[in-house]
Amino acid sequence: MPDDLRPIPGLIEAFGSLLGPNGVLTDAAALEPHLADWRGLYRGQAMAVLRPSTTEEVSSCVKLCARHGIAVIPQGGNTSMVGGATPEARDRQVVLSLARMNRVREIDVADMTMTVEAGLILTRAQQVAAEHGVLFPLSLGAEGSAMIGGVLSTNAGGNTTVRYGNARELMLGLEVVLPDGGVVNGLRRLRKDNTGYALRHLFVGAEGTLGIITAAVLRLFPAARETATALCAVPSEAAALSLFRRFRTADEGAVRAFEYMSGVGMGMVLATIEGATLPIAPGADHFVLVDLSASREGAGLRALMEQVLEAAMEAGEVEDAALAESESQRLSIWRLREEHPEAQKRAGASVKNDVSVPVSAVPELIRRASDACRALIPGSRPVPFGHMGDGNIHMNLAQPPEMNAADFLARSHDIMDCVNDIVRDLGGSFSAEHGIGRLKTDMMEAWRGGAELDAMRRIKAALDPQGIMNPGKVLPDA
Ligand code: FAD
Ligand code: MLT
Ligand code: ZN
Repeated sequence: MPDDLRPIPGLIEAFGSLLGPNGVLTDAAALEPHLADWRGLYRGQAMAVLRPSTTEEVSSCVKLCARHGIAVIPQGGNTSMVGGATPEARDRQVVLSLARMNRVREIDVADMTMTVEAGLILTRAQQVAAEHGVLFPLSLGAEGSAMIGGVLSTNAGGNTTVRYGNARELMLGLEVVLPDGGVVNGLRRLRKDNTGYALRHLFVGAEGTLGIITAAVLRLFPAARETATALCAVPSEAAALSLFRRFRTADEGAVRAFEYMSGVGMGMVLATIEGATLPIAPGADHFVLVDLSASREGAGLRALMEQVLEAAMEAGEVEDAALAESESQRLSIWRLREEHPEAQKRAGASVKNDVSVPVSAVPELIRRASDACRALIPGSRPVPFGHMGDGNIHMNLAQPPEMNAADFLARSHDIMDCVNDIVRDLGGSFSAEHGIGRLKTDMMEAWRGGAELDAMRRIKAALDPQGIMNPGKVLPDA
């Protein structure tokens, strides 16, 4: 029997004595939700799911894994779009779930910081901030499941990046368990801290390959006291971009989100999501969701919204628009955007291209990539949507309805290459916000090869010489 498959006598019991009766799952049914990813692309194995509830427990588990050469797959909400939190198909590994480390350790509205554990669910972090009259602004479709450790480890973006930045910009300090079990206590609440290498930034976006984030200091902001939200039908991608420029020029600080959706994607949402309704006339090919917010009452956002939309209508850049008149209308407009991933899942197989280009190149990206995908797979349906204000478009492709899903997915890498050629030509990136995970490791050589990839490999080897932290993710095999 190869070593990798040989059980290690007493190991599970040793984890049990470190973590107590609720801390170790080995039952097949209990393991199940931890072994496959949200998209259903990957499935792996694990000897156990470890559920530590303190940093010391995480450290003890990692020390034990290091001693026995057991791989550790850190897992938060398991909503990764790139298979980052899914174990591989081999035995000597454990999933380490942060779910029980979900405490808010401290909130300080004078410093505008919140110190929270990695297993805190994103919506809970938003709620706790709101209960204290402040705002934690990160917002994305998976926020009801994604956890703080996960969003930091992927440097998640989402709908509000245009105003507040990615997860990285919302973090001041981190506590991390290293691959040898050592604990870096960097939970500093400082705006300024130039003390050697900024280790905290190394772990943000590392997707669990360099260590386990156990807690973080997050930045808070004043709560929104006024909002204005509109759904607009626009005649083209270029018109959507012009509208973005108009809002930025009118009041850049007011734009909280600026999201693009195609007619195809909107059609999928309306057809598959119960209760989804369009507040404007149907039939448009392009839509934009504009969300404005201000921390000051009387900021005049409604007037600003009307004024910009009126000017854009006169210029032929907006065909139709609906302004939310209540919080429930605002939420139902947002639902049309947020249900895009679920609607695509329900419409069959789809290939995701989470790419970014300079904001000015977004219309060209959407047009060229849509044409190229249709030519590559006749009958396929491009579903471009997402964070136009950041130049981050999800250039997704849905299968032709009559095609077999497995045959379509077998072309995934051709489709991604086809889109990425255009992205490269436009000076963009093949991964904007979802990360590399397992899905995109084989693209790293072509995009980040040479000195950059070499430096990443040396960092990995220095911190994790045994290669036990989330193997098979981010870096391609040497
Ligand atoms: P997981 O999926 O559990 O893990 C993600 C990665 O981080 C894995 O590599 C894992 O090993 C590692 N990891 C997790 N926790 C830790 C930790 N404590 N320490 C070290 N490593 C860790 N992403 C966006 O950026 N923007 C979006 O708009 C967006 N929308 C989405 C909408 C839907 C419907 C879905 C399903 C996903 C969406 N995503 C989006 C992707 C996903 O939600 C994010 O990547 C999120 O940040 C992952 O959080 P998680 O807790 O689920 O992490
Ligand atoms: C989103 O913004 O909704 C997700 O990041 C995109 C996706 O499902 O591809
Ligand atoms: Zn997104």
